[in-house]
Amino acid sequence: MRGARIAGTGRELPSRVVTNEDLTKLMDTTDEWIVQRTGIRERRFADPSAGNSHMGAAAGRKAIAQAGISVEDVGLLVFATLSPDYYFPGCGVMVQAQLGMPTVGALDVRDQCTGFLYGLSVAEAYVKGGFHDYVLVIGSELHSKGLNFSTAGRDTAVIFGDGAGAVVVGPAENGKGILSSHLHSEGKHAAELCVEEPGFLKSPWLTHETIDSGKHYPKMNGKYVFAHAVRRFPEVIRESLAKNGYTASDLALLIPHQANQRITQAVGAAMELPEGKVFSNIERYGNTTAASIPIALDECLEQGRIREGDLVCLAAFGSGFTWASTLIRW
Ligand code: UT7
Repeated sequence: MRGARIAGTGRELPSRVVTNEDLTKLMDTTDEWIVQRTGIRERRFADPSAGNSHMGAAAGRKAIAQAGISVEDVGLLVFATLSPDYYFPGCGVMVQAQLGMPTVGALDVRDQCTGFLYGLSVAEAYVKGGFHDYVLVIGSELHSKGLNFSTAGRDTAVIFGDGAGAVVVGPAENGKGILSSHLHSEGKHAAELCVEEPGFLKSPWLTHETIDSGKHYPKMNGKYVFAHAVRRFPEVIRESLAKNGYTASDLALLIPHQANQRITQAVGAAMELPEGKVFSNIERYGNTTAASIPIALDECLEQGRIREGDLVCLAAFGSGFTWASTLIRW
């Protein structure tokens, strides 16, 4: 079976920077609290006229250019997000239209913070299986239009940010590229981090009460999520290493989903990795859920943090709960 590698990456961040200080004007919070508890100093918020798909398409365009291919070469498009332009259809078809792509399949993935790695595993399988030569995977998130910026929503409003990242997955030779992907879920924890309504458990699915009670805002049991994250991240990273006969000392770089700097530090410590081998940019972007790993990957490559031959692990945990890892020989 042929291999699959990341042939190009791209990112798109809105230009508007929102600092912790800016948020203190909207709710009862402080820069000190946010920095100490999360490591976040600022995040980006999209222009109100922009849609999620516009950011995703821009990131996708850059990844395609960097891969040295054209939109006609892409055989499948995968779009991961929890903040789509429309309830349906998904953002994948929006990107197909905006990039002027041929009428290829557009698959939407709904696995929140883990969505990008779920999408990447689909691309890996299609390319390794020889079904397509190139698959575009986009993780894009537009949180700023869906957060509660009053004190009642401060536990989530200070965390999330907007942005998009994308990769092109293409064929690989000589055992290089994506070695394996490992996906997990445990739906019994779904209510601990979710947007409860609107949803088709209710009839009708959207009511005035939904809005009045604020059930359309994210609801998070922060400590509970935190406790599961610091257990599942190391577990799934070790799973990918063991599957391929490696240990943590073989890793050149770990790129975790940027959920919280304290989670990243705890994971690095559990894996006994020095700080320089664990990438973090949460300080500048906050938690961009499905977009955080492809944004981070694009920055790592730009900064020369990944060299040919390096063993790199991507790992994520989030709502669902879902968690996953991808091990790559660069
Ligand atoms: O992307 C994957 C999914 N998400 C995560 O991985 C997030 C995981 N959880 C976390 O990152 C942390 O739990 C948070 C950053 C969300 C919260 O940190 P914490 O240390 O667990 O704080 P807490 O929820 O226990 O709240 C401590 C206090 C509370 O006040 P009382 O009850 O002690 O009086 C909160 O009301 O901090 C208060 N608080 C705030 N204070 C100022 C909560 N949010 C804020 C805020 N500013 N923004």
